[in-house]
Amino acid sequence: MTAAEWLHQLESAFTDAHLDSPRLEAEMLVAHVLGVSREWLVAHPEAMPPRLAVAALAERRLRGEPMAYVLGKKEFFGREFVVRPGVLIPRPETEILVECALSRLPESSRVADVGTGSGVIGVTLALERSDLRVTLSDVSAAALKIAKENAERHSAIVSFHQGDLLEGFQDGSLDAIVANLPYVDPSDPLLDVGVKTWEPSVALFAEGGVKVIERLVAQSVKVLTTPGLLILEFGHGQAISIELILTKNGYGVEIESDLAGIPRVAVGTRSG
Ligand SMILES: C[S@@+](CC[C@H](N)C(=O)[O-])C[C@H]1O[C@@H](n2cnc3c(N)ncnc32)[C@H](O)[C@@H]1O
Repeated sequence: MTAAEWLHQLESAFTDAHLDSPRLEAEMLVAHVLGVSREWLVAHPEAMPPRLAVAALAERRLRGEPMAYVLGKKEFFGREFVVRPGVLIPRPETEILVECALSRLPESSRVADVGTGSGVIGVTLALERSDLRVTLSDVSAAALKIAKENAERHSAIVSFHQGDLLEGFQDGSLDAIVANLPYVDPSDPLLDVGVKTWEPSVALFAEGGVKVIERLVAQSVKVLTTPGLLILEFGHGQAISIELILTKNGYGVEIESDLAGIPRVAVGTRSG
């Protein structure tokens, strides 16, 4: 079957399965199997992708598996990162946290990306700012393995650490912490079923939504130097709770919002 025939068939199957962007996903899948860009694919409808490979990936997608896991990759901050079940699929809103960090981290800061998952935050910081000394940390060995793959793939110079939040970091050993930790309340009725089914619980859920962040903030007070920065992504409707947690622990707080005006990131500053 030619690429054009595959695209037609997949678009129709994805439409029937009520996927949001059937044509786009069909093109992504066939282009991935051929190892070409979507632009190349559109210009070469006569190409012949291997039948079994297309069918196997399409079947996974039709069973509801997220496209990023099916393709084994996701773009973040203009780069391609490996993702597999075992790590959260990076979300575009996390780029706001990265932008906040890039514009605020002082020269040569020692930074930990806590809850690094696929490593997107820490690897991006290390690549965009070669002066930074970045450690990627996670409690999950599976996540750290993927973070290492991504660091190697992009030749990012970073260190790795496995532990529960800041366990194992010496007092006063960091100038900044960046973190996108789990912030979904397990009882949240609005959580997407696909997310809940496919993405790892350890990456999603925190008691009351803020419990893991609250523990990190409490631990950070010793591990950060003064002055020090703590930059946190949080969930919809959590801005007030996060601000309160930070101020109770002695931080000055700024809240950054996304383009839709939804608060997404807290920047906590400890001054001397
Ligand atoms: C929401 S995911 C974020 C992944 C990645 N930073 C990103 O932005 O795509 C949260 C990550 O925190 C890790 N995590 C959860 N609890 C943790 C803990 N107590 N200590 C360290 N990491 C933790 C999970 O394994 C997961 O990789």
